[in-house]
Amino acid sequence: MAHAFAPVHVDHYSPELAARAAEFLDHDEVYEAPELEQLVRRIAEHDDLWRPLIVIDRERRRYELLYDDDRIDIWVLSWMPGQRTGFHDHDLSGVGVVCVQGALDEGLLVLGGKADPIRMTPGVSRNGPGGYVHSVAHVAGEPAVSIHAYSPPLTVVGQYRDVGGRLTREPEHGRKELLDRSIRGDSIELQPSN
Ligand SMILES: [Fe+2]
Repeated sequence: MAHAFAPVHVDHYSPELAARAAEFLDHDEVYEAPELEQLVRRIAEHDDLWRPLIVIDRERRRYELLYDDDRIDIWVLSWMPGQRTGFHDHDLSGVGVVCVQGALDEGLLVLGGKADPIRMTPGVSRNGPGGYVHSVAHVAGEPAVSIHAYSPPLTVVGQYRDVGGRLTREPEHGRKELLDRSIRGDSIELQPSN
């Protein structure tokens, strides 16, 4: 079954901050994953760009859009205790992530084994090309904060679910639950969405 998702518009948190973030972009092509990592690291050095986007919400993991255009989108995520993604991929989008406050654990799926989580504290960054599979979980900080950049912009997220003991990849709109700038629950726990 083909999945086609229409673009969903999300407002930038602030036109002024978006314009400043755009100054960090140095070419008009799709960004490679290592470039995305370098980009979020540079943005991280300017806390006036991301601190205003921090949200404390014990119910939901929160996203705010710092910047997007037709090649890239850049988000600031706030994580409170217990908040985590399940395993997921970003479809065709590469990803760069940096932790800027608190601590997060990145999980990787390893065939035939169990990988130790990668602890992300302020300044620790990661990147992955399209098809990269990971999970992210809050460890410390109220909230923990991370900056994420995707290129091309994140339109599809593949959520990995345990359906009767079988691993299933369920494509979802990358912004489907971002309409209210939040993601409900833990994708691995099959929370109903409305
Ligand atoms: Fe991710």
